[in-house]
Amino acid sequence: MPGLLLGPLLRHVDSRSATVWVETDAPCTVAVAGARTRTFTAGGHHYALVVVTGLEPGTSTPYEVELDGETVWPPPDFPPSRIRTFPEEGDPEFVMLFGSCRKPIDPGLGFDALAAYAKRMRDQDEKDWPDALMLLGDQVYADETTDATKKWISERRSLDKPPGGEVIDFEEYTHLYHESWDEPLARWLMSTVPTSMIFDDHDVRDDWNTSQTWRDEMARTDWWDERERGALVSYWIYQHIGNLSPADLDQDEVYQRVVKAEGDVGELLHEFAERARQEVNGSKGTRWSYRRDFGNVRLLVIDTRSGRILSGGARSMVGDGEFEWIEENATGDFDHLLIGSSLPWLMPHAISYLQTLNEVACRQPGWRGRLGEKLRQSGDLEHWPSFRASSDRLAKLVRRIADTDTATVSVLSGDVHHGYAAKVTFPTPVRAAVYQLVCSPVHNMLPWYVKPFFFLSWRRSLAAVLRRRMLRKVDPLPVDWEKVGGPWLGNMVATLRASGRDAEMLMERVEGEELKRIATVPLK
Ligand SMILES: [Fe+2]
Repeated sequence: MPGLLLGPLLRHVDSRSATVWVETDAPCTVAVAGARTRTFTAGGHHYALVVVTGLEPGTSTPYEVELDGETVWPPPDFPPSRIRTFPEEGDPEFVMLFGSCRKPIDPGLGFDALAAYAKRMRDQDEKDWPDALMLLGDQVYADETTDATKKWISERRSLDKPPGGEVIDFEEYTHLYHESWDEPLARWLMSTVPTSMIFDDHDVRDDWNTSQTWRDEMARTDWWDERERGALVSYWIYQHIGNLSPADLDQDEVYQRVVKAEGDVGELLHEFAERARQEVNGSKGTRWSYRRDFGNVRLLVIDTRSGRILSGGARSMVGDGEFEWIEENATGDFDHLLIGSSLPWLMPHAISYLQTLNEVACRQPGWRGRLGEKLRQSGDLEHWPSFRASSDRLAKLVRRIADTDTATVSVLSGDVHHGYAAKVTFPTPVRAAVYQLVCSPVHNMLPWYVKPFFFLSWRRSLAAVLRRRMLRKVDPLPVDWEKVGGPWLGNMVATLRASGRDAEMLMERVEGEELKRIATVPLK
């Protein structure tokens, strides 16, 4: 009898359909809410994305998962998982959780904020449950594995040979996803709250694609090529396909080939991953960016990692073609635009100016350039300000949308292991309220010696010195911003609440095993 290994994960939900993802321990037929799908097999593992259609708008349907006719979900101590479709005319109140950086259970890291949220939800009325969850990167840490994973790896290969305890291929990635996603509380939450995801560096490797020098260094190892392919195959299966709507899935050539294939699709996805990793530096690869509409709220998620332009002078966070797609999809009929970018766009001023200065330094010939590159890699100087042309292009886009009827534009980010809210202004006033909102980590830590740095880095006096230096090399930024909340430290989860034209962000931090509200930021 087949068993359920991971999931169900409730992924794309709109007013009439839902997708539910599972991993099983054998090939089988998976049934959810009247819809039925055969699993596909990749690298000896079995998966299905069940597309449930024909649902009524604004309804709540409890669901079970059946494998070959046997019910395997929900678990006994949880309320039934539900598919809650969006009303056709839009949700009167839309609530989305977001955050990044979630490591598996580890006594040294405190309680997981997502698990704490699930614990509270379990006893709540479903009308108080959030409508969506956005995981903004580092869903798995391929380069910082737990002792249990290292032990498991050591039974396959020697840890003495590079990359040691880091994962090396698709098979080892599947282990990471199991370790992260079979924690019962978060697993149940993700079975009942529609979840969107985007990778950040640790899903692949720390500093992924920070520069061409970094890529060249990795290419010289004998393990990187297979590691990056394994990362992208597993990302496609575990994270990406669930980001897509049923209509997108119908149009997706790779997905269609996978679900129609006889036998193991490991090789097919391996070839796809090889093409996808060529996306860096502008070759045609794949688009990982995507968009979702929740009534009067649009979520536009940008891939800031895999499609960067790193060589040939002009560095860019996203290739031209994908940036155009982002610009087109930022336009539409909605009140609130949420731009999901794992990497913050606007950072503490001092860090922002430092990153732009570093980008200039890295372009210098000789030792100056090499020193700049060393600093970039050791100091994680790789956010939007270190891709200044892209940061300006995003500013232009945000400004354009903020000058329409849109009520709020918020860039949601993670990565930096602390949280903050910054209000954004432009040289001339705009109509919408514009914010950078950062929530990180959900379950990780920050070394104690870094903490004072995050407080200091918001000091305008420190920033002023760097700003003067920067202005000798580059034009002033087309945008300014001011911190209105934070920096917050600890395991946390943020809530974006939109009600009509109003919106606010709530920040909750783990204390013990509970969440405690630490800030409310009205977005006006
Ligand atoms: Fe992280």
